[in-house]
Amino acid sequence: MCGVVGYTGKRQAVDWLLDGLQTLEYRGYDSAGVQVVSPSGNLHGVKCAGRVAILRERAHTANLHGTCGIGHTRWATHGTPTDRNAHPHLDCTGRIAIVHNGIIENYQQLKRELMADGHEFRSDTDSEVVAHLVEEAWAGPARGDLAAAVRNACDRLEGSWALAVACADVPGELVVTRLGSPLVVASTDDGAYVASDVMPLSSVTSRVFQLDDRDIATLHADGSIDIVDRDGRLVSNPVAMEIDWDASAARLGGYSDFMAKEISEQPEAIERLLAGRLGKHGIELDELKLGKEELAALRHVVIIACGTSYHAGLTAKVAIERWAKIPVSVEYASEFIYDDDYLVPDHTLCVVITQSGETADTLAAARRMRGMGCDVFAITNVLGSTAAREADGTLYVQAGPEVAVASTKAYTAQMVASFLLALRLGFANGRLTRDEVEKHLHDLEQIPDLMREVLSRRWQDKQAARRFRHKGSSLFLGRNVSSATAFEGALKLKEISYLHAEAYPAGEMKHGPIALLEPGFPVVAVVPAGHVHDKTMSNIQECLARGASVIAVATDGDERVAKLCQEVLGVPNCPDDIIVPAVSVLHLQMLARYVARDRGYDVDKPRNLAKSVTVE
Ligand code: G6P
Repeated sequence: MCGVVGYTGKRQAVDWLLDGLQTLEYRGYDSAGVQVVSPSGNLHGVKCAGRVAILRERAHTANLHGTCGIGHTRWATHGTPTDRNAHPHLDCTGRIAIVHNGIIENYQQLKRELMADGHEFRSDTDSEVVAHLVEEAWAGPARGDLAAAVRNACDRLEGSWALAVACADVPGELVVTRLGSPLVVASTDDGAYVASDVMPLSSVTSRVFQLDDRDIATLHADGSIDIVDRDGRLVSNPVAMEIDWDASAARLGGYSDFMAKEISEQPEAIERLLAGRLGKHGIELDELKLGKEELAALRHVVIIACGTSYHAGLTAKVAIERWAKIPVSVEYASEFIYDDDYLVPDHTLCVVITQSGETADTLAAARRMRGMGCDVFAITNVLGSTAAREADGTLYVQAGPEVAVASTKAYTAQMVASFLLALRLGFANGRLTRDEVEKHLHDLEQIPDLMREVLSRRWQDKQAARRFRHKGSSLFLGRNVSSATAFEGALKLKEISYLHAEAYPAGEMKHGPIALLEPGFPVVAVVPAGHVHDKTMSNIQECLARGASVIAVATDGDERVAKLCQEVLGVPNCPDDIIVPAVSVLHLQMLARYVARDRGYDVDKPRNLAKSVTVE
């Protein structure tokens, strides 16, 4: 979703702004722009629909000079993705520029009022009102004090925002603020920086500061930053955060795309997550921040998530119900928030799963659960993210930066993190003995090598991808825990190859989707060994009888599958069926990637999608 960058200091601003925007491309966007304060004290900039690479060319032609500026990647919400709707937006005088991430919910009313006062609007965005509100404050009560003008403007806003504001009358100064949308700042010898997340800042520092909601920070050219909180008090000790991965983790390092790199990083991510977990509580999960008695008293778990994280939640449900014998509901955050009749039993733990930690729906749902008196436990990949800051306890999945929009390594790490939670709960409530916990943990420790084996079979996925050529639709099937894998496989394919993919619990196929089948129709069936294998085989037969091409994800040595199905994506024997989803899904990630590449698409930056969905 939208990305914000800003810099003031000794260097030419445009260079870092463009590099920073390029680093933020992973969030998903459709247009971009930069604006700098020129040495002659004027604002000048460029903006355009399309990629940062186009912006870079235009910025080069425009020869933008200046050591203070702001930049933005826009993911359209209000107004189509066009040059005029791209940020930065200027006020009527052309001396104030703003970039904004979030949604100004009362923009229509504000726009009407501002237009009645003679302001001229040049875009269809909600964001532009901010430029005019700052203009009003600057011309009136806050003249000469940009931070006061920004505060004054924000007092009239409803919604969410991360804002960076430059003003040609105070060259060398940037004012930034946030409410509900993330923003981090960094102070260096070269100058002061701001960005929506730590990714662009990792090239200039390993230490960043997070702003709290309604903090206003003024960035100065000497690198100093003044932060004032919502009550106007100076924040003398802002919360510092160390970036604990080296900047190269977010570079391609020889891979053709980030998705390929991140798929291949999964074994190491799981090893990191599992390291040192066995201890006196069975599983060491201090991150949970709940004592043994509180854990033992839990009667219900509600898992809340969106997208791929929701699929991790479906697997988590199986693990928690099996190991801890606690009933689990898994809810889409966007549905849960507005379900006024939702009943939450006493002693419920809320678990939010979110790789970014910034998904607006998930955050709203977590706040609602806290409001209902539940403890909230976050499973996330991003250090210091809003979900982590607001939760009672947080388990970082430690997958490292995930740049490709379609989640891969964060997904499997979320699943394994939830297995740890299930073991911790099961041990705390006496459903699992220490020996059983040890055994299950030992099984989990097999996952990295099992994943390596699947990765070595990527040729199978490449070969199977040919079955999707010239097709307009596909079906993914699985039963029980494998239905979550089928859902995730279909989502991956849709996200990056733009091919329609329908996922169904295999037994439900006969109630509708079977009508789609025709000769050559691609069906992906997840059919590992286990108690539902034979039932799924019957569904595969039903597909084959209608001429479908079946691509089966099956356990090594499954002769029936090998004989019947057109393609087999082989999975080595796993010691427990619960860990199969974390291993078998790698095939479906690779399959989706090969299909997308076959169609000539950019697998890292699929159209219309955003990595971090900060609007409801
Ligand atoms: C977006 C991303 C998905 C992600 C979903 C939920 O749609 O493109 O990859 O699964 O948001 O994001 P979260 O950060 O909450 O896991």
